[in-house]
Amino acid sequence: MLNGKHIILGITGSIAAYKAAMLCRLLVKEGAEVRVIMTPLAKQFITPLTMATLSKHPILVEFFNPENGEWNSHVSLGEWADMLLIAPATANTLAKMTTGIADNLLLTTYLSARSKVAVAPAMDLDMYAHITTQQNLKTLAQRGVAIIEPGAGELASGLVGKGRMAEPEEIIEQVKAIFAAEKPQSLTGKRYIVTAGATIEPIDPVRYITNHSTGKMGYAIAEELARRGAEVKLISGRTNLPVPQGVKRIDVVTAEDMYNASVREWTEADGGVMCAAVADYTPMYVADRKLKKSDDDLKIELRRTKDIAKELGENKGQRTLVGFALETDNEEANAEGKLQRKNLDFVVLNSLRDKGAGFAGDTNKITIIDSNGREEHPLMSKRDVAAVIVDKIEKVIR
Ligand code: PMT
Repeated sequence: MLNGKHIILGITGSIAAYKAAMLCRLLVKEGAEVRVIMTPLAKQFITPLTMATLSKHPILVEFFNPENGEWNSHVSLGEWADMLLIAPATANTLAKMTTGIADNLLLTTYLSARSKVAVAPAMDLDMYAHITTQQNLKTLAQRGVAIIEPGAGELASGLVGKGRMAEPEEIIEQVKAIFAAEKPQSLTGKRYIVTAGATIEPIDPVRYITNHSTGKMGYAIAEELARRGAEVKLISGRTNLPVPQGVKRIDVVTAEDMYNASVREWTEADGGVMCAAVADYTPMYVADRKLKKSDDDLKIELRRTKDIAKELGENKGQRTLVGFALETDNEEANAEGKLQRKNLDFVVLNSLRDKGAGFAGDTNKITIIDSNGREEHPLMSKRDVAAVIVDKIEKVIR
């Protein structure tokens, strides 16, 4: 149930922090990937070394590493997570969560997180029973935060009552129940292929022709399709990106490799999104030794590669096929040409004339064009663009 889930374990300054060690261990044992964020006070209760060893990753406390200035991005952490689990959660942190105070990395991550959030309160019985704390818990629950109720028993103060953080095994069960209660996903049972990244066309064993695609756009689409329950095969050129959760990646190098993999996988697919920047030309001959330079200019003869999207479009049947158009001029006319020629259901136009659009960055600005017209979208994160594209796919298949 927790296999492959991305969980941020937030630890705040409570005596119950010692239980976070066992909790972390159990999460890892269940197959979850865990990143630990500690509030500065939490470090007084349990050592970062313990948590780093158990989670297998350095723990995060500060907004940046004071040694080298490396930034700990709360936005990326919030996007990475499937769940932010704060255990133990003190009355102080709960109060800050309700009011939006963001004075440490854990709280900024909470405000950025799009994932499920669960808290396991831990505090003295009077603090727990206090109207303010109860009101804060109610507010958080109304906003969708899962509250993992504390137990009753002897507390660190020596008093007996409700406020003990739930035991790690019980928290794990509740975390599993939260994931199990996820809504049935809209694309369960559907199979998609997505091409992403740049192809590499070798000239000789040393040199090659490629382009600026990083794969970010295609990976975001693959991730979004998988998030909605689809089975996704990501046919990927070279990138530095990790494989999105729940996605099967097929690594390819050249346009020819990408063509072969795409045509092969197309037979079993319900649809495809062609996001890769595929070379249109490849060297006619690949030298088997490094080409030696001379005083003369060098001409490299190129031949056309096969158009993957066009090939899939010709064998589309009932499947859904989405293409991209990366343009620098005559944008809409070129995109419409691609829509027709490649027999696409819709084409996603991105223009290098738009700031923040296209290659490499984390944002894109797209216009979706189909036989009914055009929908222009503002500049958005590639993750949001992916959601827009997958929404459109869902409309097409409905
Ligand atoms: O990877 P990023 O850094 O995030 O950048 C994202 C992106 C800019 C690469 C992406 O948004 C994008 O525009 N991808 C398509 C790039 C491209 O090659 O566009 P095109 O207009 O040349 O091709 C049109 C369509 O045909 C595309 O769907 C392309 O994948 C496909 N094609 C092209 C050539 C070919 N031989 N086979 C193809 O399938």
